[in-house]
Amino acid sequence: MSSQSRCSELILFINGKKITEKNPDPEEVLLSFLRRKVGLTGAKYGCGGGGCGACTVMVSRYDYQQNKVLHYTVNACLQPICTLHGAAVVTVEGIGSTKTKLHPVQERIAKAHGSQCGFCTPGMVMSMYTLLRNKPQPTMEDIREALGGNLCRCTGYRPIIDGFKTFCGTSECCQNGEGGGKCCPQNGTNSHEDGDICQELFCMDEVLPLDPSQDLIFPPELMIMEKENGVGFLRFQGERVTLVCPVDLSDLLNLKSEHPDAPLVVGNTTLGPKMLLKGVYHPLVIYAGRISDLKSLSWGKNGLNVGAACTLSNLKEELQRVVGEMEMEKTKGFQALLQTLQCLAGKQIRNMATIGGNILSANPKYDLNSILAALECTLLVISKDGSRKILLNEKLFTDFGKTALRPNEVLLAIDIPFSKPWEFVSAFRQAQRREFSFSIVNSGMKVAIKKDTNLVESLHIFYGGVGPSLVKVEHTCEQLVGRSWGEELLAEACRLLEDEVDVSPLIHGGKVEYRKTLALSFFFKFYMQVVQNLHERDVSVNGLPLEHLSALKPFKNEVPHGHHSFQLVPDGQPIDDPVGRPKEHQASYEQATGEAKYYDDLPPVQGELFVFMVTSTRAHAKLINIDPSEALGMSGVVTFLSARDVPGQNKRLWFNNPEELFAEEEVCCVGQIIGAVVAETREQARRAAQKVQVTYEDILPVFFTIEDAIHHQSFFDPQRKLQRGDVDVAFKTVEHILEDEIYMGGQEHFYMETQGVIAVPKGENGELDLFVASQHSAYAQEIVGITLGIDSNKITCHVKRLGGAFGGKVMKVANLSAITATAAYKTGRAVRCSLDRGDDMLITSGRHPFLGKYKVGYNHDGTIVAVDITYYSNGGCTLDESSFIMEKALLHMDNGYKIPNLRGRGLVCKTYLPSYTAFRGFGAPQGLTVMESILHEVAVRCALPPHKVVLTLACVFLQVRQINMYQAEECLTHHKQLFSPRDMIRCWDDCLDKAGYQERLQAIQQFNVFNQWKKRGISVVPLKFGVGFSKGFYNQGAALINIYKDGSVLVTHGGTEMGQGINTKAIQIASRILRVPMSSIYIKETCTGSVPNAAPSAASFGTDAVGMAVKDACEKLMRRLEPVMKTNPKSTWKQWVVEAYCQKISLTATGFFMGPHTSIDWEKSEGPAYYYFTFGACCSEVEIDCLTGDHKNIRTDIVMDVGKSINPALDIGQIEGGFVQGIGLYTIEELEFSSEGVLMTRSPSQYKIPALCDIPPQLNVHLLANAENPYAIYMSKGIGEPPVFFGCTIFFAIKEAIAAARRDRGLDETFSLSSPATAEKIRMACIDQFTQKVPCTKEGIFKPWSINV
Ligand SMILES: Cc1cc2nc3c(=O)[nH]c(=O)nc-3n(C[C@H](O)[C@H](O)[C@H](O)COP(=O)(O)OP(=O)(O)OC[C@H]3O[C@@H](n4cnc5c(N)ncnc54)[C@H](O)[C@@H]3O)c2cc1C
Ligand code: FES
Ligand code: FES
Repeated sequence: MSSQSRCSELILFINGKKITEKNPDPEEVLLSFLRRKVGLTGAKYGCGGGGCGACTVMVSRYDYQQNKVLHYTVNACLQPICTLHGAAVVTVEGIGSTKTKLHPVQERIAKAHGSQCGFCTPGMVMSMYTLLRNKPQPTMEDIREALGGNLCRCTGYRPIIDGFKTFCGTSECCQNGEGGGKCCPQNGTNSHEDGDICQELFCMDEVLPLDPSQDLIFPPELMIMEKENGVGFLRFQGERVTLVCPVDLSDLLNLKSEHPDAPLVVGNTTLGPKMLLKGVYHPLVIYAGRISDLKSLSWGKNGLNVGAACTLSNLKEELQRVVGEMEMEKTKGFQALLQTLQCLAGKQIRNMATIGGNILSANPKYDLNSILAALECTLLVISKDGSRKILLNEKLFTDFGKTALRPNEVLLAIDIPFSKPWEFVSAFRQAQRREFSFSIVNSGMKVAIKKDTNLVESLHIFYGGVGPSLVKVEHTCEQLVGRSWGEELLAEACRLLEDEVDVSPLIHGGKVEYRKTLALSFFFKFYMQVVQNLHERDVSVNGLPLEHLSALKPFKNEVPHGHHSFQLVPDGQPIDDPVGRPKEHQASYEQATGEAKYYDDLPPVQGELFVFMVTSTRAHAKLINIDPSEALGMSGVVTFLSARDVPGQNKRLWFNNPEELFAEEEVCCVGQIIGAVVAETREQARRAAQKVQVTYEDILPVFFTIEDAIHHQSFFDPQRKLQRGDVDVAFKTVEHILEDEIYMGGQEHFYMETQGVIAVPKGENGELDLFVASQHSAYAQEIVGITLGIDSNKITCHVKRLGGAFGGKVMKVANLSAITATAAYKTGRAVRCSLDRGDDMLITSGRHPFLGKYKVGYNHDGTIVAVDITYYSNGGCTLDESSFIMEKALLHMDNGYKIPNLRGRGLVCKTYLPSYTAFRGFGAPQGLTVMESILHEVAVRCALPPHKVVLTLACVFLQVRQINMYQAEECLTHHKQLFSPRDMIRCWDDCLDKAGYQERLQAIQQFNVFNQWKKRGISVVPLKFGVGFSKGFYNQGAALINIYKDGSVLVTHGGTEMGQGINTKAIQIASRILRVPMSSIYIKETCTGSVPNAAPSAASFGTDAVGMAVKDACEKLMRRLEPVMKTNPKSTWKQWVVEAYCQKISLTATGFFMGPHTSIDWEKSEGPAYYYFTFGACCSEVEIDCLTGDHKNIRTDIVMDVGKSINPALDIGQIEGGFVQGIGLYTIEELEFSSEGVLMTRSPSQYKIPALCDIPPQLNVHLLANAENPYAIYMSKGIGEPPVFFGCTIFFAIKEAIAAARRDRGLDETFSLSSPATAEKIRMACIDQFTQKVPCTKEGIFKPWSINV
């Protein structure tokens, strides 16, 4: 053991370069090693828990036994660096670069406009690159699988797929999905142009071919190392943790015997998040990933023997192979297992995670135990004292996270038996999102039927997710043995399950009724599957109506593709004028190569410190004492900050409402910043922050929900009202009155880059540089100035780019900047703040939850005469932008409908939650949704007897919308702003036409008749969206243009590049006016020192403001240059510039745009609140699974009026990305708060944004042709925010589908559904015999898991 007590050197290769680390820290993961030690910042931190894919890199290892190099992706944030001894790591920087040569993957994602903010791009690139290393001609399914573990919050995935599918060997490469092997241009077809309408956003004619010789070779040194001594025993000693890596089993068993409490780690995908994110501490960890006995996969006469350390990917591949080769009968169990593995986590996690780890994590959310138990698998367990076999069943799991294994035992392997001839097996899972999401309930079921009969010989049913550990419904199974598989058995089984599946009202994760319903519904699906199988064997079983078959078909995940169209630039526009053309994002190649820098990619400044926030754990309490003494005594801790350290103002007023940087006397939400720890490293600061002792004294009242705020009459001022006509009088004239409400939950921004800032004191006169992730740097500058008591002229904010923002990086990041600046001020050193994902979600909050209570008066034909809405939003504990957001909701409440009598009131509730803030759409989606809900409910009622005449319900939906739409050439909004709805109606008509609405309606009706358990719905909405700030002073833009003597042009403007492409558009505009190529124009950063007092990049107004300012500055310069040009007409641009310089003509100019003075007189309910309106229409079709609540987005068609697009590719990208964010908002993104006001959904594992599986396979986006906008730059229109609202088409289509299910069962078609329409809500609204068996948990007896805030 002497060699085992010496510390080992870590040897690995990164991008072909040998790295030798003498004292690596076992707690360090690859991501931080790459970013901080090696200086490779291409791999990004998005979550730190394997849930987003931003950190994806490729690991290659030489497998001596197979004599083969294996390449696979991993999440660098979970891969301990010490486990990579002998491995070669390739990061995005290692495969290509803009300086040398791009890799084709990098080139194609950039060309296909698949990179917006670019933060996810390196991860996407590495997932695709690794796929190509293993399979140079992948199928579409391969691509779908490879990208399943990568999230993107900007693009909506379609352009990423479009870029990558050009690598497919067969078909599908065409942008319109019709390529037949080649892109249309290559095919010689010309389907991408029709008149002046173009359907081609990019052209892959001249792209780099895939060239394997470009790939880094696996380092021969590592092969030799592996061959010669198989690396040997390794021991890595860190400051707190020791990691040992035995290579043979006996060493492992000895270690386990000596250190029974030391956990084994292999993939680190369960243990890692616990240690990294939850502070679980183990001084000694044993890495078992190098022991070949644990990794074997072998076939015996009874089935498969899988080593415990076999990865889920390896297992999946082996099963896929066998299922394809072996007789079906034997592999039924493997097929069920494979089905589970297909949607278990993402590819990277499956590459790391092991079967042993999955089983022994004993987590009921994990999927494998229920199916492995049903298959009657056996575990082979070994220790120094001997080995034993254990049946994998409920007895193995003693509690959550606990097993019956003895502490010194190791799981060696799992035996998975073949299926027998008359055995039938199924696995089920239902999650918040279909893929890359933990299951809510999972199940494995197996029945053995007596040959040629329908008699049950044995039955095994296991559930995960209905209790703290695996549950076997033993009594049910026993009772059904010997019975005939038929309807009586089904009834009896349901009765038995109803009693035996006992979901505690206190279950972790809540959803008690849903879980129990799923347990019954899964059994029904299993029952149907067995019935079908018996039918196929000619065994008669009563009852298999055709329409029941739909219970069986699982949704198929498909790869999205779509049709796009936009108008070509007019004939005669010079070829080198880029305005109106689909130009690539200015930094897409840098983003695809990992060269693009975000704030946290900047190298550390000499002596840099790290700051970590200390936040309140109470919702409303007096601060009795803050004791940082333990934290201050910890290694590396430099200081602690609280309110008393603020040199300037800790408190300030924001529109007459107080805002505090650090809580001083009282806290008013969980997550409020109380103090901050400053330490030498991130980890030291994080650990020390947890040790700051805060003593509280709770204060009453404390409440979190809108309803409770109404009860307490707790509202912020001002309370707004808007009205048109006389609502009260009108209600007396109508045939029908309906009073109802709709609730919309909030939304987390989930920008891929978390918030942060680096503050660098310059050491002179208080000068300070801030590198900040802000979309409103002037505001950050102002708040820092107030906090430090320093003039703004000494504070410079720099913003290179943001990894997404969506409104979330306007306000909160200013506070973070001020705290970080205070730390820099106090220590005199540079300080970095980069929020962990969990803290970001907790502290910075997101979109406001809204409740709309309404009364509507209408006539039988659907004409709406009067509407009275009261909007309540949950503003949280401080005002932030809540009142402006409420104003925007009110200003949008009419949408495209001319309701003659319309009144809206808006109240922002003050609660004890973190303060809600701006989010793309800024209250408009909520305001619009309430109106759409009113239209929907009126239509439902108009379609009910006695009014229903000939029209189907869906026709009524259309008719009611059309009857009420603004129609006249010139109309007044409810706030008396003049506009023409012409282009909205054109969008509407075009959308119905392009979507083939009428024909599909019939098909949907047919589908619903023939399918009892699956239902489809379709919905279409129009959109009128105001662009610009209703606070008129924000409607301004500024720019600074410098021309240098070499002819190059530097543009600086007040906007922020956050993926929307504002820089690209600014360059296109400058290029048009200056008549120089885009490549000669550069935008370096947004800087408060160059362009002061800039407005936030928000309100869809960025390009309008900045574009005009750039135009203004460029025109000034051209006016100065014109005389020189006229005198020397034959000279080049560069010569003119030099000549101008020699003539002492200034080559720098500022540009300014004084936007419109929008305003609203709230007393009079009138005023031009917006600059102009962007219009659109969207139609979506969905299918729901009535038994599970799962839904599939089938097709979406969007027609959008963006005026004359400056860049159709960017605009279509914004539309798709916004729409997909809307899909999340209205269907799967659910924030859960405990009844103590604690946000529990603080990671991508708990909070689901749309992944690739959520994108409609057909997503068609058309820019309205022949549209103009006289108000904005080059007749364009702002587009960033409007499309989010279109996500509501999915919501209303789901509601229609649920109604179809209810109609079948004779249930009331009027029912309430709140947003998001999660699987739970869909299932529970499709009331049937199964939901009716599940009693409602009585309110008030048990503390609910979460509350609707
Ligand atoms: C983002 C993410 C998404 C996920 N999604 C899913 C999902 O959808 N469905 C699902 O089922 N799972 C999911 N998982 C869980 C994942 O499958 C498990 O974390 C994984 O299988 C555990 O294997 P591991 O090798 O990483 O275990 P480790 O983290 O290395 O170890 C886990 C535990 O098992 C013990 N252990 C491991 N091997 C042995 C052994 N041979 N003998 C004794 N003890 C052992 C360890 O001591 C430790 O306590 C997800 C995980 C992540 C991070
Ligand atoms: S940062 Fe690694 S998966 Fe999110
Ligand atoms: S481009 Fe994918 S997250 Fe921004």
